[in-house]
This record gives sequence, structure tokens and C-alpha cells, in this order.
Amino acid sequence: MERMLVVGAGTMGAQIAMVCALAGHDTTVTDLTDDALARAESSLRSRLDRDVAKGRRTRDDVDDAFARLTFTTDLVGTASTADLVIEAAVEKLDVKREVFARLDKLAPPHAILTTNSSAIMSSQLADATGRPDRVANMHFFNPALVMRCVEVLGTDEATVEAVVDLARRLGKEPVVLHKEIPGFVANRILGAASDEAIFLLEQGVASVEDIDAACRTALGYPMGPFELMDLTGIDIGYHAKLARHAVTGDPRDLPSRTVTELVERGDLGRKTGKGFYSYEDER
Ligand code: 3HC
Repeated sequence: MERMLVVGAGTMGAQIAMVCALAGHDTTVTDLTDDALARAESSLRSRLDRDVAKGRRTRDDVDDAFARLTFTTDLVGTASTADLVIEAAVEKLDVKREVFARLDKLAPPHAILTTNSSAIMSSQLADATGRPDRVANMHFFNPALVMRCVEVLGTDEATVEAVVDLARRLGKEPVVLHKEIPGFVANRILGAASDEAIFLLEQGVASVEDIDAACRTALGYPMGPFELMDLTGIDIGYHAKLARHAVTGDPRDLPSRTVTELVERGDLGRKTGKGFYSYEDER
């Protein structure tokens, strides 16, 4: 597996593409607009410049990685040479199925098609393609440049093995799911903590700041659940919950009132400058 294609240049897609390029793969990242690609490139450049300034990476390694990384809106031109695709588009089943059907037509027959989702199972996408055995979940965590875990789910042993092997070569630690369950392992555990944090907030038990502080200072979390929701994007969790609810039908899987209100207002966390906290000063 040499050539990687990442579909979607959002927070996750951009960093996943850079992880691949840093590991020596020729990588293309596509999105619908030049603006989205320009934003992705500029945020990666400032992030990696910071790594160089702090002595975490060398300038040569970063320059080489950028030389291997192509940003383009031309999905048709680029998919035909991909060995493995990682789809990191919006968490909506109909959109993902459309993307997978398109990728199936464009990518070479040997290519493995993966989704970065943990809310949508690869089995929900596999039948949109003519290669169901070469479809899998390859789920990274935010920030993908930093977090080591990659969760892998698929129905075909050889495909799972290939994805696990790739994850290791990217410097990640794969965790293999033996069974489908929306949210997989880490997000289910995280979701339980976030739901409880929102419950405590909605009950008026403590403030956003104090609930986060308790998680950091009592439980040793690197950041509190509200800080983390702002980092990962409040809309991401919202759509993940809707997708999970569509599978389970369990009303407990619906997004909370607080999260729904934030999404309706467009306060999606760090990326919009406001979520549970305000980041206007940072901007
Ligand atoms: N992107 C890339 N690198 C980042 C980053 C980001 N957004 N934020 C921080 N980093 C890196 C940088 O190298 C940074 O150093 P720098 O700021 O000096 O350049 C370094 O991490 C340390 O950052 P900080 O000193 O600001 O803060 P921390 O020591 O707290 O580390 C953290 C930041 C690694 C994000 C840490 O707080 C952490 O591990 N938080 C929890 C993250 C987590 O739980 N992620 C999983 C989310 S769930 C998910 O992803 C599921 C998916 O389905 C959405």
C-alpha cells in the first residue's frame, strides 16, 4: 500500500492525511471546495511549524511530508491511483453511501475503502460498493497527529489485517473490534462521561468550568468533557448520536437539549470560535 487518498479536508481528514504523508506515503486529500483545502493546508502548516519550532520534528521531515501531500478538488483524477482510501466526510449515512458508491467506480479493484467513522458501520456502506470485502472502518482520534489509537472494524480477515498493518506503519496502535457496535470502544466510554457531564450541567449541579476541572483534577483526564467536545466539534457528536439513534431507536441515544441548541445556533466549538467556551480571543 503506497498511495493514500483521504476524502474530506476537515479537522480529522487533514490531520489523517498528514499522518500518512509523514509516514512516507504519497497522499492526496480532497474536498468539495478550494477554500476547504486552503484552510486545511494552512492549519497543517502552522501546526507542523510549531512542531519544528519545538524540536518535535525536523524541518526536512515536514518539508518531505508536504511534498508527498496533494490538495485537490479533483476526486475523479486522483481516486484511480489510490491503494487505500480513508473517507472522513460528514457523519451522514446517505452522504457516505454516495461517496462509497462513487469511490467504488473510481478506485482500482485492489483498493481498500475505509471510513473514519465510528458511528456508521462499514457494513452499512459495503453494499453501496461492488467490493464489500474490501470495505472497513479505520477510526482515528482527534487530534489525529497526536492520538495513537486507531480502531479497526471489518468483515474480511485479510482486509482487517491490511488495515491493522497500515495503522502500525503510521505509528498508531490498532484496536480491533470483533463485533459491530455503534461508537466502538473509546467513543462509547467517552460518550458515557460526556452524557453524565451534560446531565450534571442541565440539572444545575455545577458549571461547565467546574465539571471540566473535576475531570482533570480528580480523574486525571487530559481535558474535561466540555473542553473535549469543543475540540472535536459539537456537531460531530450531535450527528454521531443521530446516527446511533437511527440504528438503535433508543431515545437515550438522541442528542441532549444543550447540544442541540448549540448546534442550532452554529456554536460548534473551537472551529467556529464558540461552543461551551468562547475562543474569540484566540482568534
Ligand atoms: N492538533 C494537533 N496537535 C495538537 C492539537 C491539535 N488540535 N492540540 C494539541 N496538539 C499537540 C501539540 O503538539 C501540542 O503542543 P504545542 O501546543 O506546544 O504545539 C501538544 O499536543 C500538547 O498540547 P497542549 O500543551 O496544548 O495540551 P495538552 O498537553 O493537554 O495536550 C491533547 C493536548 C493531546 C489534545 C490532550 O489534551 C489530550 O490528549 N486530550 C484528549 C484528547 C482526546 O480525548 N481525544 C479523543 C477525542 S474523541 C475522538 O476523537 C473521536 C472521534 O470520533 C471524533
